[in-house]
Amino acid sequence: MFRFDEKKRVFFAHAKDVSYIFSITDKGYLRHLYFGAKISETDSLELLSKDFPNSFSPICYEEDTIFSLDVALQEFPTNQRGDFRSSPIVARSSNGSRVCDFVYDSYSITDGEKFPSDMPHARYGGQTLTINLIDKVKKLKIELNYIIFEDCSTITRYVSYKNLGDEDIYLERAFSYSIDFFSKEMNLITLAGRPAFERNVEITPITQGVKSISSTCGASSHILNPFVALVEKDISNDYGNAYGFNLIYSGNFKTSIEKSSLGDIRVLGGINDESFTALLKAGESFDTPEATLTFSANGLNGLSQAEHDFVRAHILDERYRDVERPIVVNNWEATDFRFDTDIILDYIDKASEIGVDTFVLDDGWFGKRDDDTSGLGDWVENTTKLKGGLAPLIDRCKQKGIKFGLWFEPEMVSVDSDFYRQNENCNIGELDRLPAKSRHQLVLDFSNPKTVDKIFNAIAKILDNNDISYVKWDMNRYISDNFSSYLPPERQGEFNHRQVLGVYDLAERILNRYPSLIMEGCAGGGGRFDLGMLYYFPQIWTSDNTDALERTKIQYGTSLAYPLIATSCHVTHSPNALTQRQISWETRFAIASLGAFGYELDVTKLTDEEKKIVREQIAEYKTVRSLVKNGDLFRIFSPFSDGMFCVSVVSKDKDVAYVAGMKWLDAPNNKHVIIKLKGLDDNKNYFVKELGLTLSGKYLKNVGLPIKNGYDFAQISLHLSAVKKVG
Ligand code: DGJ
Repeated sequence: MFRFDEKKRVFFAHAKDVSYIFSITDKGYLRHLYFGAKISETDSLELLSKDFPNSFSPICYEEDTIFSLDVALQEFPTNQRGDFRSSPIVARSSNGSRVCDFVYDSYSITDGEKFPSDMPHARYGGQTLTINLIDKVKKLKIELNYIIFEDCSTITRYVSYKNLGDEDIYLERAFSYSIDFFSKEMNLITLAGRPAFERNVEITPITQGVKSISSTCGASSHILNPFVALVEKDISNDYGNAYGFNLIYSGNFKTSIEKSSLGDIRVLGGINDESFTALLKAGESFDTPEATLTFSANGLNGLSQAEHDFVRAHILDERYRDVERPIVVNNWEATDFRFDTDIILDYIDKASEIGVDTFVLDDGWFGKRDDDTSGLGDWVENTTKLKGGLAPLIDRCKQKGIKFGLWFEPEMVSVDSDFYRQNENCNIGELDRLPAKSRHQLVLDFSNPKTVDKIFNAIAKILDNNDISYVKWDMNRYISDNFSSYLPPERQGEFNHRQVLGVYDLAERILNRYPSLIMEGCAGGGGRFDLGMLYYFPQIWTSDNTDALERTKIQYGTSLAYPLIATSCHVTHSPNALTQRQISWETRFAIASLGAFGYELDVTKLTDEEKKIVREQIAEYKTVRSLVKNGDLFRIFSPFSDGMFCVSVVSKDKDVAYVAGMKWLDAPNNKHVIIKLKGLDDNKNYFVKELGLTLSGKYLKNVGLPIKNGYDFAQISLHLSAVKKVG
């Protein structure tokens, strides 16, 4: 709920466990007052609004001697008016000036969520506060939008910039938000990595100066995820204040964390300002992506539970909310490009014997695609490889009672393709410079709506003519040669952003036309794992690295910000194709079961004994499937600090829990590890299936369960269900 106290000129926002408060100063600046655990409006905030300008602090108004932007905690800091910290906006007027000075004009509170146009956004039942700020000299208006949802501890923000004058304005930086924290010793958590090693947790102290987390890859990237957290120094999984920041965006982003000379911390972010300029002609507006600001007082587990609740309720499409995700089997690691109709028919037959719901035919079914040097852009069946096209495969799936899924890489084109030959300048890059290739492919110019149309029509033809229930949407390179021959010179600074809008447009159109389709996101594994993608794709292929041990880190890091059900996790062969590590079926299952589950292996080579194992695993996954989708995640042991990985997922009513993980290396005469369970109800008794014992929630929390020594990479797997109340 939002409220404006007219007398004190204070805005209050209260959501589930969180309050957010700011005020308007006499001169019309927005002063940030508070973001954190829910507090009462009667609590005095006077103390927070004392600033201490120093002798070098510029004063905008002579009579205003105790207020300087240099030291004030602000809601949307003004550029080049005496605040020497980073600013969320750099706007150049036609006279070349970048000075900005925004002051309060008006506000409105509306039911329902406002959202940035043409972009994914938070949805379903919000309330919006809009604050209008105007720079009268620059003739630029900014509309700060705040959206809250009563059932979550997340506040989202985005900005609309509007040119009120007659002259062009260039936005050289147009971030989505900025927030100041009163002097605090905080650590920064980032999710860092590289392809096949995504989203590893890094924790660093925040020291004076600026630290930026960003991407220039044209995608949110494997390298740094847009999610960051600011946490108290002594944060643990269960205790301490934690703030999470994320963007509902999939392109180049930047989040800057700045500690000032006074120790205050500013966090600001949005579209990366590197290689970005948006032109605002007279009367034009520019909407930023929406940012999410989440708070929890209950440590990292509390923060990620709050993030998960928000994503499940307000980012993921509600059409997937009450249906279970399919258990898929994908042929990529079994066949790569080397398949034909007979090979796939045999694969489908064997897949149906193990009990999966959906078979997904990966890369190689279209155009002239026998390896990765050709065919992208030609979304027509390769009838040399697949006699009769997809139809016989889909018919066989139907006979066997499983659904059919198909791989696409819509944003890309191979030079050796009919699409490239027939569509001049369809790829991005300057016309007189050879564009860089990556995986032998070029990037289609999705800033050009005509190119998006053509790809949509081609994909629609395949989806119209075939019974396809699942699409895997891949993207196997970053963006270089960032130039569109479709855009005029003065709009080239918008290219990266418009390219992303083209991707969103295509995804939106496909989902509108095929409402029962489920699309899985993928970008060479987890190269575009972000809230923008999750808006369209309720699950994303987490990483091409499917080694269970490596996956513990990747999935642990990913789970800080994203719910388990958003992470596609498949059991693959052992030894693992990338690492050659041998890990048991049980352990590979324990790790893959913590997500949208499936298999990616050669089902035609499974022995009868292995088929039995897989059938049992699928049956077991079905017993935890809805818990994994809807439950609360508790981290117990971290692969980054404990040499093992263990988490539990507990149902919202605390009646059921699933504990899964793996120990890493064992050693002779090792002590048992004790797992103290989290999130259970103290007043309930739980039957622990694996032990055949009933124990109280209090016992399980305080005494815990010993996990026997076993062997290297041994799995942890426990199923608990409440039996009756303790008296
Ligand atoms: C990269 C993906 O991550 C893989 O799963 C597979 O789909 C290949 N691309 C196909 O080219």
